[in-house]
Amino acid sequence: MSSRRLVKLPGLIDTHVHVREPGATHKEDYASCTAAALAGGVTMICAMPNTNPAVTNQESLTLVRNLAKQGARCDYAIFMGASSDNHMEIPELASEVAGLKMYLNETFTTLRLNDLNVWQKHLASWPKKAPLCVHAEGQTTAAIILMASLQNRPVHICHVARKEEILIIKAAKEKGLNITCEVCPHHLFLSTDDINILGVCKSQVRPVLMAKEDQEALWDNLHVIDCFATDHAPHTLTEKTSSNPPPGFPGLETILPLLLNAVNENRLTVDDIINKFYRNPKKIFNLPDQPNTYVEIDLDEEWTIPESTAYSKAKWTPFAGKKVKGAVHRVVLRGEVAYVDGQILVQPGFGQDVKAWDIKKSFTEVAPTPTVTNGYFDKMEYNDGQTNEIF
Ligand code: NCD
Ligand code: ZN
Ligand code: ZN
Ligand code: ZN
Repeated sequence: MSSRRLVKLPGLIDTHVHVREPGATHKEDYASCTAAALAGGVTMICAMPNTNPAVTNQESLTLVRNLAKQGARCDYAIFMGASSDNHMEIPELASEVAGLKMYLNETFTTLRLNDLNVWQKHLASWPKKAPLCVHAEGQTTAAIILMASLQNRPVHICHVARKEEILIIKAAKEKGLNITCEVCPHHLFLSTDDINILGVCKSQVRPVLMAKEDQEALWDNLHVIDCFATDHAPHTLTEKTSSNPPPGFPGLETILPLLLNAVNENRLTVDDIINKFYRNPKKIFNLPDQPNTYVEIDLDEEWTIPESTAYSKAKWTPFAGKKVKGAVHRVVLRGEVAYVDGQILVQPGFGQDVKAWDIKKSFTEVAPTPTVTNGYFDKMEYNDGQTNEIF
């Protein structure tokens, strides 16, 4: 019998997930997305606002909230999207959402903002203590860091992929600016070299897959990366292989096995995973504790990622064929066994909106003051007694 190292991790938090409900439930919906999350060891997701309708006001937020309440199997928070004219009405909703999302470059969304004046209005009016995330690439990253710093406000940079991006974020942190960032598994584990295997259509994603040099820059600057997030962006195989393929990869079911495999290759530690996929997301996004919630992983299980994962409706994965060592064994969410060895055991409706958990408090009362050490988030409290135990 081969060895079996079972390790207990906290329930992981993915702050960048496209659920596709409402508007594109053939790609994904709350029930399928949160099943995929649990199968991947993720017990809380933050849902992106680029749905149809997009989440840009009280009405669309209420609509999505009701769908999520019916469909979700794991816990969640919902993002508000910045539009060209909603900066005045949304700040009062800040305590009820995961944060504000601003799309500043071309991608799969109707929410792209081109006008610097509009960026400025949102940066100024969204509460400083409430999370503000941006899709910003290349030069846009530098522009938004400058604008946020002029406003003296934190900003979180989504899916950092280029060497120039991670280096400017590093420099900003060294200056003491309150910038945080996330990196996705496809930018850590795939590069332009994989386009030959995937084909040009399937490999479409924003930011695009980058050169080896960019990928290496991410690994060389792991200490600059605050969070791992999937940017789970499911599209069907038919859509991906069409003449006009939409950008995006599913990622929820594969992120943790890929990270565990990196642990086995000594490129990462289990503590890095806990830091970047639980502790920092929780802190940056002001997310609550999920009581009696944990994930049991098997560090020794070896398997090959199949053509299609079990729960996402995408029914394909850019990581197909990759051999990995590390698997999710069991997930316990708020005391219930939610997943064990391939089986989802909780029903749609079990998931809860974590932003509805507390009696509404203003951000001035509940906002965490980020611990900034050497310019970036450093070790934060996580001694909940249930992390990284080997049993
Ligand atoms: C995302 C999607 O499909 O919603 N696509 C992507 O390629 N990442 C949008 C986004 O996150 O930019
Ligand atoms: Zn994006
Ligand atoms: Zn995204
Ligand atoms: Zn098992």
